Amino acid sequence: MLERRSPIEKKPIIVAIDGPAASGKSTTAKLLAARLGYTYIDTGAMYRAVTLRVLREGLLDEIRRDESGIAELLEQITIGFQGHRVLLDGEDVSGAIRENRVSREVSFISSLKPVRDKLRELQQEMGRKRGIVMDGRDIGTVIFPDAELKIFLVADPRERARRRHAELSLKASGAAVPSIEELEAEIVKRDRDDEERTHAPLRRHADAVLLDTSKMTIDEQVNVVYELVNKIAGQ
Ligand code: CDP
Ligand code: CDP
Repeated sequence: MLERRSPIEKKPIIVAIDGPAASGKSTTAKLLAARLGYTYIDTGAMYRAVTLRVLREGLLDEIRRDESGIAELLEQITIGFQGHRVLLDGEDVSGAIRENRVSREVSFISSLKPVRDKLRELQQEMGRKRGIVMDGRDIGTVIFPDAELKIFLVADPRERARRRHAELSLKASGAAVPSIEELEAEIVKRDRDDEERTHAPLRRHADAVLLDTSKMTIDEQVNVVYELVNKIAGQ
């Protein structure tokens, strides 16, 4: 019998993609996973889902005063994926987690140790079978430091704000969209909060390949990463 499976199918790997907001992680990860026949896991969506639940229950101020308040909620919460849809306690919240009120608070919720502990466990379990592309802030440094390929995407803050603006304008259907300047300020603040936190800060692993997407098209981004995967598979 001829062996027709590609090296990547025979020995599935883990691709870890990290980087600041709107650097192109999820777009790249989704398309790459589709090309490889891998599962895409958006860990930012998981932190957003926890944040949404906190906001819906009106617990934000209480948790700000006393962080231990998050523990009970974490025991009750279930987060999962159905294809690319994000499920919070069985409800599809894929749209709701992208709202700006969630974006504004997600860095605070993500900085809490009990939140990180719970999601780290879930994410490591999801990657157990390998054959995944996972994106976030700490995938290469904390979740899968042994991932065969680690990528760190960056892009100019103004360009990233332009991308977010275009994205929000497309979805807005009449609702007001923050200006590019406002979005840039929010993005820069969120990056700083993510970089400066104590637990699992946003940081490039020494082995991660640095890719600046400021002047790249989405196709170019995906092609570069796909070629790196092929190189690893050919080794
Ligand atoms: O899509 P965008 O870059 O705006 O953010 P995201 O990937 O949806 O992540 C939202 C927030 O979740 C980030 O700003 C981080 O505060 C947090 N996050 C994290 O702490 N660790 C991860 N692995 C993924 C996201
Ligand atoms: O996941 P992350 O927050 O890093 O970024 P994303 O959601 O993948 O990308 C943010 C926006 O930039 C999306 O609307 C992409 O279509 C767009 N974009 C990109 O990712 N890469 C480019 N070279 C140009 C635009």
